[in-house]
Amino acid sequence: MKILTKLVAAKVPRPSAETDEIITTIIDFVAATISLTISDVLASTLQGLTILKKLFDSCGMLHFQHWLSFIELYSEIIQSIGNVTGRVLYECTACVSIMLYQVASRLKIEASVHSNEVDGNSKMILNHAIENDLVNLLCDCLAESGTCLMSGSLDKLPAACEACKAIWALIDANELSSTWKHSFPLQSLQNQLRQCDYITLNTETYGIIEIVTKSFVESKPVQVALFHCFHKGFESALHASLQVTSRICMSSSFACHVICGLENSIENTNNIEGGIDGTIISDIFDLLSVGTSNLKKDKVEGRNQKCKLTNPQVIILNSCIVLATVAHHLILAGKRSAAYILTSSSKKQHDRLSILAYISSSGNKTSNSTPLEPYCASAMLALSSFVSLEDGGCANFIIDTVLALVPSITTMQNHLRLESPEVNALITNCNALLSNWHGQCDGLIGLLEMRLKWGGPLAAKQACSSGVPQHLIHLFSYGFRKYSVQESEKLKNKVDVSLSPNAVMGIVSSINYCLPAGAVYDILFRKESVKIFCDLISDMHLKILNDWNGPGGGKKGIMDLINAVIDLLAFPFIALQSAPGLPATSASISSSHLLNIGSPGGHIGIENKDLIKTIEKHLPQYLQILLEVCLPTSVLRCLKYIELKDCVCAIAFVAKMASYRPLAIQLLEGGLLDPSNVSKFLDRSSPKEVTLDMLMIISDLARMSKDFYEVINRACLLDFLKNSLSHEDKDVRAKACSAIGNMCRHSSYFYTSLSRNKIISLIIERCADSDKRTRKFACFAVGNAAYHNITLYEELRKCIPQLTRLLLSMEEDKTKSNAAGALSNLVRNSTVLCGEIISHGALQGLLTLVNDCSGNGEKVTVLRTGLFALSKMCDHLPCRQFIRSSEFFPVIVQLKSSSDPNIVANATAIISKLSAV
Ligand SMILES: *[C@@H]1O[C@H](CO)[C@@H](O)[C@H](O)[C@H]1NC(C)=O
Ligand SMILES: *[C@@H]1O[C@H](CO)[C@@H](O)[C@H](O)[C@H]1NC(C)=O
Ligand SMILES: *[C@@H]1O[C@H](CO)[C@@H](O)[C@H](O)[C@H]1NC(C)=O
Ligand SMILES: *[C@@H]1O[C@H](CO)[C@@H](O)[C@H](O)[C@H]1NC(C)=O
Ligand SMILES: *[C@@H]1O[C@H](CO)[C@@H](O)[C@H](O)[C@H]1NC(C)=O
Ligand SMILES: *[C@@H]1O[C@H](CO)[C@@H](O)[C@H](O)[C@H]1NC(C)=O
Repeated sequence: MKILTKLVAAKVPRPSAETDEIITTIIDFVAATISLTISDVLASTLQGLTILKKLFDSCGMLHFQHWLSFIELYSEIIQSIGNVTGRVLYECTACVSIMLYQVASRLKIEASVHSNEVDGNSKMILNHAIENDLVNLLCDCLAESGTCLMSGSLDKLPAACEACKAIWALIDANELSSTWKHSFPLQSLQNQLRQCDYITLNTETYGIIEIVTKSFVESKPVQVALFHCFHKGFESALHASLQVTSRICMSSSFACHVICGLENSIENTNNIEGGIDGTIISDIFDLLSVGTSNLKKDKVEGRNQKCKLTNPQVIILNSCIVLATVAHHLILAGKRSAAYILTSSSKKQHDRLSILAYISSSGNKTSNSTPLEPYCASAMLALSSFVSLEDGGCANFIIDTVLALVPSITTMQNHLRLESPEVNALITNCNALLSNWHGQCDGLIGLLEMRLKWGGPLAAKQACSSGVPQHLIHLFSYGFRKYSVQESEKLKNKVDVSLSPNAVMGIVSSINYCLPAGAVYDILFRKESVKIFCDLISDMHLKILNDWNGPGGGKKGIMDLINAVIDLLAFPFIALQSAPGLPATSASISSSHLLNIGSPGGHIGIENKDLIKTIEKHLPQYLQILLEVCLPTSVLRCLKYIELKDCVCAIAFVAKMASYRPLAIQLLEGGLLDPSNVSKFLDRSSPKEVTLDMLMIISDLARMSKDFYEVINRACLLDFLKNSLSHEDKDVRAKACSAIGNMCRHSSYFYTSLSRNKIISLIIERCADSDKRTRKFACFAVGNAAYHNITLYEELRKCIPQLTRLLLSMEEDKTKSNAAGALSNLVRNSTVLCGEIISHGALQGLLTLVNDCSGNGEKVTVLRTGLFALSKMCDHLPCRQFIRSSEFFPVIVQLKSSSDPNIVANATAIISKLSAV
């Protein structure tokens, strides 16, 4: 062994038959001696392992046979791991990690030169490792090491570091060798839209990562071992631990809690402090300071070896990825505070944020428009994830600190600038991946969004004046445009603009913040850009997004994206509606309110009259664009990706669109009123807001034209309407009455079916509802139910006492008018109800009403309807007799000299009818 050791040390061994033989022999030797405890033998065994390590490292091409025999040996060693010394465990685990690094680097070379010369050996080794669950052995090694560490012994820590490296090499090799080409959901969509022949879905199975994650989550010793790799490991082990950790974190929320030291307070949200000393997070921040001082190369001289990193950028980048990933999972778990990562000490928070801010601006400063370096981009990503962890509120320390630290909008915008039409120019900043889940410009966009969100109207104005919204939309449109053949050639081996789902969200919401500051002209009144937003919520994109397991994907990602896009596209409607002095575009109680929450449209003040005027002027054009890109259909389609309880905003937007006839027609063609949809949205299980908006849609359509009656009829909604009439919520009852009123507005189409479903008697009851709006709309409905012909007269007989009461009690004028109108309709086509009208005092009521209002200028509308109703009554003999003998008759005579021509005409008409017979 001594001779061999010296030989190997003397010259670099070459792959040769002799070397092969040496390897075989030593493996056999170690296998034979490993279980012996005689100390001399143990020394030779160790020497043997050291020689193997050296040979594996330097001999390049590895024989599959060597791999097989060594792994067999390794698995025996692991089986008796409790009896193995730390040194032996280290040496043999190092052999494994060295071999796997070789495999990974071989695969990397292959991938970069696109050679077809596949190194069968590397693939075979990798497959063998995966199929035989080598990763389990490595996790056992971590666990054993952790157990020792917990009992105070550092003996097996070096082995843990090697195990980490081996796991990382395995993951790396596996990712390199997979046949899938990495792409973000948006790229996959673009490829499909361009009908490229390759469909790239991220369908990799993360078998290895799952195993590691499981063992990390379930085993305290494994957690301890990983922690110590961070705490004490050298650069290669640090790098490997970071890579492994970021993947564990990506696949497990619990793991993220462990990293922050929050594993005991998963449910408990009262404990809001994480990342304190002794957690992996804390070590990662220490690493960042070490990395930062390494960036300032000159200052690091004289420090000890431990603090010297050969590649600080890579360490920083991977540290930041872990931080961002942890933040993402905390958000998903509802833990909305950066204190979970930054501790609750404001000094620590400030220090940690400052380091990240320093890193993010420490890149090459020779020119503003040079691409961001990846490690700077990753620090931005971490910063922006911390900000999004915060819910906001007025004086927020984290947000204020970050705002003070990060670059201005103008600086950020320089990085996003894509002026050159050259396709190459756009590949500067947004093409690279920071990780499999994060794109190069995610952080930049996140910080931009933060500036716009917290910077108020001023920030938005500034952004607009330097063209930020257009640059942002370019990021999309480059991806969506069709390339010429030459361009495609050029692009062949390059990546397109890679926008991760998070970047997509960030862009949509940044543009949203810019709308009130003027971006509405450049973005929303252009078909190309509206088309892009429409594509974002298309079936195709949402399907891909659903399968995406990184940030911004899955159910939550879909819901956020849909809501953001809707918020954006609803802006013109909201702006008009919230404009002071303009009548609300519809009577909706819920939708305007809902869409207004957090929407920039809601914040437009009086000072923005010009904007509102422009929007008003361009609205027809906007509606036309929405129609042409088939937005109504897209919105309906995307609803199937979100749960009923999350549909609120989308349905509110649908309700807005439904009040414009052309859009309404497209919505109906898209199946809005198909019975299945109606029953879903009007069902008791549906959120109240959705029910209200659905009733409003029906009401609006019915009011718009009788052409819609047939499609409303096919919706089979009478049962639901009926239930809504006795709903415990007053708004629902009121909306249902209004819908029925409008369904009776243009014709008698629904008369018989309303009667058959016993709905008439219910609206009559509603005339005495406890809610005043419900009473108002109930009178409206009753009136219309009487208007067209006498079919419902018999059933309506019962409403006479109710209407009479409303005429005489304290009610809104509108309700009294509706009641008077309804009474006049009850005598419009027949005399049958006259007796009842007289006997229940309705006629007397109308006379009293007219008398009460006659001297009062404010009551002129009520007076008109009252008088008109009286004139209708005069068509019937019994009524004429009653009026003629009334004490109030002189009032009518007096009204002939009113200043209102309408009143004069009606009073005159009454007098002449009375004098006829
Ligand atoms: C460790 O060694 C002892 C004594 O030689 C033996 O009894 C035991 O089974 C060994 N343990 C393992 C895990 O191999
Ligand atoms: C910074 O960027 C400029 C222009 O891209 C380049 O010429 C220079 O070498 C870079 N400097 C460093 C330190 O990377
Ligand atoms: C309505 O129903 C049709 C089919 O009946 C379906 O295609 C459509 O997606 C549904 N729309 C909504 C909003 O559920
Ligand atoms: C009243 O309208 C209903 C429903 O449209 C119709 O069936 C009926 O024939 C009409 N009656 C009269 C008298 O016009
Ligand atoms: C009901 O009366 C109105 C007005 O008197 C009349 O125009 C209409 O044709 C009548 N309708 C029916 C169905 O009799
Ligand atoms: C009476 O009033 C109604 C409604 O206020 C109006 O439509 C009508 O023209 C008026 N004149 C006559 C002669 O009925």
